[in-house]
Amino acid sequence: MINFEIKNLKEYHENYSESVENPEVFWATIAKENFTWKRPWTQVLDWDFSIPNVSWFKGAQLNITENCIDRHLIINGNKTAILFEPNNPNDPSEAISYKELHKRVNQFANVLKSKGIQKGDRVCIYLPMIPELAISVLACARIGAIHSVVFAGFSASALSTRINDCDCKMVITSDGGFRGAKTINLKSIVDSALMDCNGIESVLVAKRIHSDITMVRGRDFWLEPLLEKASDECEATVMDAEDPLFILYTSGSTGQPKGMVHTTAGYMVYAAYTFKNIFQYQPKDVYWCTADIGWITGHSYIVYGPLLNGATTLMFEGVPSYPDYGRFWSIVEKHKVSQFYTAPTAIRALAKEGLDAVTPYDLSSLKILGTVGEPINEEAWHWYNDHIGKNKCPIVDTWWQTETGGIMISPIPNSFEGKPAFATLPFMGIQPALMDENGNEIKGNSVEGRLCIKFPWPSMARTIWGNHQRYKETYFSAYDQKYFTGDGALRDENGHYRITGRVDDVIIVSGHNLGTAPIEDAINEHPNVAESAIVGYPHAIKGSALYGFVTLKNSHDLTDTLKTEINELISKQIGPIAKLDKIQFTSGLPKTRSGKIMRRILRKIASQDTSNLGDISTLLNPEVVDTIMKNSF
Ligand code: WTA
Repeated sequence: MINFEIKNLKEYHENYSESVENPEVFWATIAKENFTWKRPWTQVLDWDFSIPNVSWFKGAQLNITENCIDRHLIINGNKTAILFEPNNPNDPSEAISYKELHKRVNQFANVLKSKGIQKGDRVCIYLPMIPELAISVLACARIGAIHSVVFAGFSASALSTRINDCDCKMVITSDGGFRGAKTINLKSIVDSALMDCNGIESVLVAKRIHSDITMVRGRDFWLEPLLEKASDECEATVMDAEDPLFILYTSGSTGQPKGMVHTTAGYMVYAAYTFKNIFQYQPKDVYWCTADIGWITGHSYIVYGPLLNGATTLMFEGVPSYPDYGRFWSIVEKHKVSQFYTAPTAIRALAKEGLDAVTPYDLSSLKILGTVGEPINEEAWHWYNDHIGKNKCPIVDTWWQTETGGIMISPIPNSFEGKPAFATLPFMGIQPALMDENGNEIKGNSVEGRLCIKFPWPSMARTIWGNHQRYKETYFSAYDQKYFTGDGALRDENGHYRITGRVDDVIIVSGHNLGTAPIEDAINEHPNVAESAIVGYPHAIKGSALYGFVTLKNSHDLTDTLKTEINELISKQIGPIAKLDKIQFTSGLPKTRSGKIMRRILRKIASQDTSNLGDISTLLNPEVVDTIMKNSF
C-alpha cells in the first residue's frame, strides 16, 4: 500500500509544495487510496486555531483495527504482525501472525464487552512490554473504548492521578513484569493506586511473572480464563472520524499531567503515511522500535503505524543492558532487523560500553536507523552512523511530540541526506514557523527562534481531556493562530531545522519528558522543606539530568537522610525516572521582586556556566547567588 516516490531533493520540494498548497487534496488522496472506510467524509478539513478546533475527514466512518488487521488477512494472514522478544534471551520469542492477532484482539475485545466496557468508556492499560499490551490497545480500539496507556514505570500515585483524570472504568495490568534482572510487581502498584480511585469497576490481570498477588473479589479477574472462553469473532464498532481513539498523558507546567486526546481518522492516516515513508518499509522487512508502548513513540510507531502498513513489528520486553550491552545488537542479528528506531540516550549509553559489545554481531540486515525523543549530539550521531549503520544506513532524526501524534520533521531516506544533529526538513503538509519573542515570525534562513506550526496536520491532538481551555492556553495562546511546540529551533542556510531543546519548564531526562512543577510539588511535601526549584544540566548519557535547589524551613532540619527521603518522595509521587541527580540545600532561592524564582540563574549554576550570569541586580536577594555558587556541585 501507500506508495511514495521521492527519489531526490527536487522531488521532495515538488511534493512538499503540493502538500502545503493543496493540503485537502493531498491528504484526501492518501486517505482514499490507502484505507478502508465504512463511509466517506463530507469535509476533509475544518479548522480554526483561535477556538481551537480542528477536524479531519468529517463525516467519515471507520474502525482503525480493520485497517490494522482485517484488511491484511487475505494476502498477509500468515505474515508475522508482532514479533515478541522476551526479557530473558533464553526464552523463546513469539511470532504472532495477522490471523492470530485478529483472533486475539477479538477475544480480548469480547472480554472487555463482557465486563461492561462500551464505546467511549476509558480503559487504563498499565502493562509491561508483553504482547497483551499491544493486543489490549487494539481490543479497546475494536469496540471504540478509549485507551489510556500509562507507562509501567510510573508510581501508584501517578497512576491514580491519570486514572481519575479521565474517569477510567477498567484497568488492564499484569501480576508483574521483567526488566533486566529485576521483577516489578505491577499488580501491587495498581492495588495501591486504586485506593484513591472510585470509578474502577474491574481489573483484568495478565499472568507474566507468576507471583503471589492479592485479587479483590468481584473487581479483579485473571485474563487468561476469560480469553479462553471468549469468542474470537468481534465485529468492529463503527467510529466517526473524530471519535477519540486514545488519551496519552504528558507532563506540563503544573502538577496535573495533560491528557492529550487523539482522534481516529486523522491519526490513522498520518501515522501510517509517515511510517511507510520515513522508515521506507518494504514487505519483507522486520521493523523494530525500542520505545515502550507507554509513550507516543510506541503508540504510533510500534503499534498503529506498522500494523496499518501490514508490517512485522518487533516488541522487546527488556532493557539494552541485559544480560549485557550487546542485547540490542544480538536481537538485530537474531531477527534480521531492517529498520531500527531508538533514543539518543540509549545510543550514548551503548556507545560508552565500547565496540566489544557491537562487533560480535552481524548487523548487515539494517537498512535505516532512527532516533527520537531529544536532540542527538553529533558524537552520538557519528557513532550510530559508523558502528551500527556502517555508513550505509540513512539516519532519520525524527522530531515530533506526544501532541503531534506523528513525525513532523525528519530526513526522508534516499531523497536527501541527513545531517548530524539536524532533524532537517518538514514532512509533507507540515508548515513550521520560527517566532521571535515579540510574536513575529522570523523569515528567511540562518535564523533561530521558537518553533510553531502554522497549519493543521491530520494527527494533531484535538484537546486535553476535560480541559479544552488548558489546551488553548498551552498551545495556541503564545502566538496568534499558531500551534506552539515548546521547543526552540534554528533553521540553517539550507532551510534545515535543528531542534535546540525545550524553552519551557519541561526537562528531557533519558528521553522522558519531566515537568519541573510536579517534581517540586513532590519535594515540597516533605515536612522539612520550605521551597524548591528544579533545573536541568547537561549529562553525558541522559542528555539532561535533574538538579534540585532546596530550602529548608529551618537549617536545623538538615539530616543525613534528607536527600534520600526527598528522592523517595519523588519516586512515590511520580516514579523513579524523576529522581534528582544532585540536591543542594540553600538558604534561599534567587527571586525577582515579584517573587518569581529566577531559574535562568539556577540553570547556569547547575551547568557550571557561571561566567556570565546576566544582570542580577534586579533580584530581590542577589546575595544568595554567591552562596549558592560556592556550595554547588
Ligand atoms: C523532544 C516524543 C530533538 C522535543 C516523540 C519535543 C526532540 C519532545 C526530538 C517531545 C528530536 C523529540 N530532536 N528533540 N528528534 N524528538 N524531541 O512528547 O523537545 O515524549 O518537544 O514525544 O521531545 O517529547 P514526547
